[in-house]
Amino acid sequence: MEGHEILLSLFLVSAVLLGSLFYYVYRSSVSNANGSEGMQDAKKKRFFFATILLVVILIFLTATLPKSPYFLFADQTPAKVVHVAAKQYNFIMSNQAIDPKNPVGEQDIEVPQGQVVEFRVTSLDVNHGFAIYNEEAKLVTQVQAMPGYVNKLRWEFDKPGKYNILCLEYCGSAHSFMRASFTVK
Ligand code: CUA
Repeated sequence: MEGHEILLSLFLVSAVLLGSLFYYVYRSSVSNANGSEGMQDAKKKRFFFATILLVVILIFLTATLPKSPYFLFADQTPAKVVHVAAKQYNFIMSNQAIDPKNPVGEQDIEVPQGQVVEFRVTSLDVNHGFAIYNEEAKLVTQVQAMPGYVNKLRWEFDKPGKYNILCLEYCGSAHSFMRASFTVK
């Protein structure tokens, strides 16, 4: 099972657990309505709820915490580095570092297939999102583009083709037109 499938299963299991919990609370409140005062076996129920809650929290923490801080391919040297400067309303991409005072990029950025690529992403104005989509328009990976920070995003592309970059953070009137692309070969 892949990482996102494990997470999805965890969400589904917790949804069923929480659903049962709500149903249980609903049932017990209905059956208590006829004359009896207060909740029956309050201590027992409290212990039961707390245990379920603790188990759900522990499962999530065990599944997610060891992977933090989520910097993928941290122990590898990237085969290629692409510099990205987001600016209302486009992405300037370059094989060399980008001068913020005179930001110029190159068209037709190419990255190798099956090797680790590092994107060094920053913004020259407001917060943007740097989201990479494959040819089937599926989100592959993403990172925030923030002014004053360079966020590193490493990824290994297993399929060649044209990948599109869309802005994933509302950044102004032309946000939805903010896009770019690159090629994996
Ligand atoms: Cu840049 Cu939305």
